[in-house]
Amino acid sequence: MKQNVIIDCDPGIDDSLALMMALSSKDIEVIGITIVCGNSPVEMGFANAKKILKHMNRLDIPVYLGADKPLKKEYVNALDTHGADGLGESFLEEVSGYEQPMQAVEFLSDVLRKKACTVIAIGPLTNLAHLIAYDEEAFHRIEKLISMGGNYRSHGNCSPVAEYNYWEDPEAASMVYAQMEKSGKKLYMVGLDVTRQIVLRPDLLSYMERLEPLQGAFIRRITKFYYDFHWEQERLIGCVINDPLAVAYALDPQICSGCEAYVQIETDGLCRGQSVVDAHGFCKKEANAYVLTEVDVKKFFSMFFALVLHKSASELIALENIW
Ligand code: BDR
Ligand code: CA
Repeated sequence: MKQNVIIDCDPGIDDSLALMMALSSKDIEVIGITIVCGNSPVEMGFANAKKILKHMNRLDIPVYLGADKPLKKEYVNALDTHGADGLGESFLEEVSGYEQPMQAVEFLSDVLRKKACTVIAIGPLTNLAHLIAYDEEAFHRIEKLISMGGNYRSHGNCSPVAEYNYWEDPEAASMVYAQMEKSGKKLYMVGLDVTRQIVLRPDLLSYMERLEPLQGAFIRRITKFYYDFHWEQERLIGCVINDPLAVAYALDPQICSGCEAYVQIETDGLCRGQSVVDAHGFCKKEANAYVLTEVDVKKFFSMFFALVLHKSASELIALENIW
């Protein structure tokens, strides 16, 4: 049985890689893509999702426009990281049309009442916060909520303590975690502790090009800007591709491990957006999250290569040479 999945995203370079991965899996049925403002303004994110769907020959998948600003904070895009077009200045051809009559929140409410779905949220949590306000029951029907965001022992990536998705709309993130507490379910937090280890090194990209030149060239085109950004900002040769790990975790939870904890999101001041992980029970609260702390990096990349390059495990020749 395929897993029904909704991807809530802000494409974004690594969001696009996550979409490519999910769309290539025979175990996932992507029933819709919802767009939130984040890396890119929402209209640009919508345009980028369509460009990726066109590249994957999957324009049949509906894409819904969502929030164009955070709940309370001023919107700050991340085009410095993702390029002027939000897709690494690849300037892929625009895809016109494919607008949906429903907004993201209406689609989420409608579909979650009809089908058991996993939601993979790889942008700020604004759309999900709106869903809570619009149709709380539908939110509680999410079978599994996986969120790329936050950090526990690892430092922040847009402040000393905060990760971008939660920093961008801390009120939304705070609302979602509070609602998890109410539901008795756990949010699966795919934070920087694990995603920071997912570095697409240049030799890994070369390997992809060797195996599948066209797809490899496409990935090089959309990641070039991201490589430059990582070198300039962090002196890192390679780029951290956060979002595909959330898809990998949906496909195979054995790829990561972690701990249950009560998590709250700080909304203001120096600690804005910080995910405060109460791993030692100070708050005397039931866990509302499963916080990922370890990842099998080789297993991730084997899965990533196989899916994105449309190869079976046995076709990933000479993989052992690159570890
Ligand atoms: C997250 O922020 C964005 O830049 C990425 O797309 C990812 O979702 C990492 O902090
Ligand atoms: Ca993202």
